[in-house]
Amino acid sequence: MRILTTVREMQLACRNLKRKGTLGMVPTMGALHEGHLSLVRRAQGECDAVVVSIFVNPTQFAAGEDYETYPRTFDDDCAKLEAAGVDLLFAPGPDEMYSPGSTTFVEVPGIGDRLDGASRPGHFCGVATVVAKLFNIVSPQRAYFGQKDAAQIAVLRAMIRDLDFPIELVACPIVREPDGLAMSSRNRYLSPQNRGRALILHQALQTVCQLLESGETRSNVLQRALLSVFAGQEDIRLDYAAIVDPYTLLPVADTARGALIAVAAWVGSTRLIDNILTENLPIENLNLQQGWMEETHA
Ligand code: PAJ
Repeated sequence: MRILTTVREMQLACRNLKRKGTLGMVPTMGALHEGHLSLVRRAQGECDAVVVSIFVNPTQFAAGEDYETYPRTFDDDCAKLEAAGVDLLFAPGPDEMYSPGSTTFVEVPGIGDRLDGASRPGHFCGVATVVAKLFNIVSPQRAYFGQKDAAQIAVLRAMIRDLDFPIELVACPIVREPDGLAMSSRNRYLSPQNRGRALILHQALQTVCQLLESGETRSNVLQRALLSVFAGQEDIRLDYAAIVDPYTLLPVADTARGALIAVAAWVGSTRLIDNILTENLPIENLNLQQGWMEETHA
């Protein structure tokens, strides 16, 4: 696996890799786990070459968030990617990605201000900016993202559409620990006691699944069920429990035509997120514009 740290070298290497055929990209912030590796494997199955990036992006962290303490496990990450057979790793430093005096940002107003965007102002501007930059550097035909960050996917879909990136966003299913906790680089912050408490996010979504299976589709009923799971729990602070359209992130009154059911909660001092898509909306349906993509790159 080649490891490159500069934008120029990366642009050249990616141009050469694209001669082999379809190039897939998996953007990450490192501290890699099975969730990330599932994206890599999916990309390898669908593309001729795969590029991974590891960059802890300062612009998506607000002051007081965990930018400084975010887990950085570069050697371990490299070993995992090497073992997975990744072709090229891009691992720039912050000064390489943001040259001094850089002032251009990508905003996705509306969608970018909902769910995590409401709780973390400026977060999705940082995400959209860095992903747009990575797209310009790597220029992949396909980019792989995890459904775990459902709002991130909605924001990036809008950005791809609005800025005419000829890139297919592939949304991949959430990978979970055996007990159901969604894998996350931040899970390592949890004390043993809070690791147990963190299961509440998955349990709340399971409760909603049971109601959906029994035929319930009214969002207010489903939301009440979600809230009741969180009520009175020690050391848990619910951030949001939302039932929304997965593209616009606006609330839907009924889930019959498909909905994203998403929760975010503070478990101690760690903020965790999880979600489900209702059955009427398999994630494959969310991969827009496939035919158009194939024509563009033909
Ligand atoms: P990061 O949190 O490192 O996640 C990288 C990718 O892995 C994202 O697409 C995320 O949704 C996916 N992922 C994380 N946990 C997952 C899980 N349990 N199952 C499936 N996929 C999972 O998301 C980011 O980094 C950044 O915002 C980034 C897009 C790289 C921009 O900086």
